Amino acid sequence: MQHQNLKKSKLKIFVSLFFLLLISGFYQCKSSLEDGLVKNGADSTAITAADEELSAKSTGKNATLKSAFSFPFGAAVVIDRLEDKPYIDILKKDFRSVTPESSMKFGALQPSKDTYTWTKADGIVAFAQANGMRVHGHTLIWGKDGRTPDWVVNYKGNKDDFLKLLKDHIQTVVKHFKGKVNSWDVVNEAFQNNGKYKSNIWYKKLGEEYLYKSFQYAQEADPNALLFYNDYGQEFGGAKLQAIIDMAANCKKRGIAIHGFGLQMHTNLNLSIGRFSENLVKLKNTGLLIHLSELDIAVRDGQPEHFALSAKLNTALAAKYKAIVKTYLSLPVKQQFGITTWGVSDRNSFYNDSYPNIDHDYPLLFDKNYAAKPAYTAVIEAGKGI
Ligand code: XIL
Repeated sequence: MQHQNLKKSKLKIFVSLFFLLLISGFYQCKSSLEDGLVKNGADSTAITAADEELSAKSTGKNATLKSAFSFPFGAAVVIDRLEDKPYIDILKKDFRSVTPESSMKFGALQPSKDTYTWTKADGIVAFAQANGMRVHGHTLIWGKDGRTPDWVVNYKGNKDDFLKLLKDHIQTVVKHFKGKVNSWDVVNEAFQNNGKYKSNIWYKKLGEEYLYKSFQYAQEADPNALLFYNDYGQEFGGAKLQAIIDMAANCKKRGIAIHGFGLQMHTNLNLSIGRFSENLVKLKNTGLLIHLSELDIAVRDGQPEHFALSAKLNTALAAKYKAIVKTYLSLPVKQQFGITTWGVSDRNSFYNDSYPNIDHDYPLLFDKNYAAKPAYTAVIEAGKGI
């Protein structure tokens, strides 16, 4: 009996020990598991951060328009908006080039004969200089009378008088900004789609000479400035593009400097990248610089007057931006002068300026609240070859 009792109590001890061991083992296991989890947690946080950094590098998450391209990525700028903090912050963070959107146009600089108003343009130049940005001047002469001040269009004078007007304006302006403005759109929108010169006051008085003289006068005033011909629709090729290429060849024949072409690229979601690419190659073959000088992409086709930017449109916008930038990057690096968007955010787009509300279109990289849109990331990705 005693023996049996002893056996029973031994068994009890054994069973209790077993359970004790089991429980302590369980707790040990649990705590080391928790330790492990904590460790893994810490590690996994570290890994996640490293991963994020890695993926940021590859997706361009932390990159900016400034860092993603070898050429200065630019924006058209309006002086009054330089009082807007988010506008300035974005310009400083993302842009290395500015084009005054309107304050260097003929009427803005010489609103009446021999009276020059520099304040706004000087303000933009000062901002650019303070922030190490390149300034692209736009535009000395415009091939459309509606964009030339009335006093010029209605000016009574002969050929020599008009040559003098042309020379005085171009040389006064280019000399004023000499050493501060790196490059100029010398002539804007001179050709029709059929390749003929547009009729305007300069053409009526001077014939096609007005265009060649404009380049000549600009070069005399600042031999270091890069001189561009700027126009829309070159991406579609045809007679207009050929006329522009021929004009550049004529400049060369005459010993007149022309350094590049500005393709305005006020475009939309329907742009055929194939066609754009083909025509870019034709321009590339001239060996001159190429500037996408006023890029924006309208999404409003088929929409009502006012509409919200759907996720679908926003994605399509990003894809189109990316495709355009990638196509541009296929040019030889030495011909890549830059890409400039026509404004900073949808709030500042000239499409919306002209309308009472800002939901008329959504063509830029930043939304009306200055938040980066998917198109912004897409452009950076293109810049990084992703
Ligand atoms: C536009 C400006 O964005 C507007 O604010 C202004 O009212 C009119 O001019 N092609 C050009 C630019 O070359 O100068 C135009 O800029 C847009 C079309």
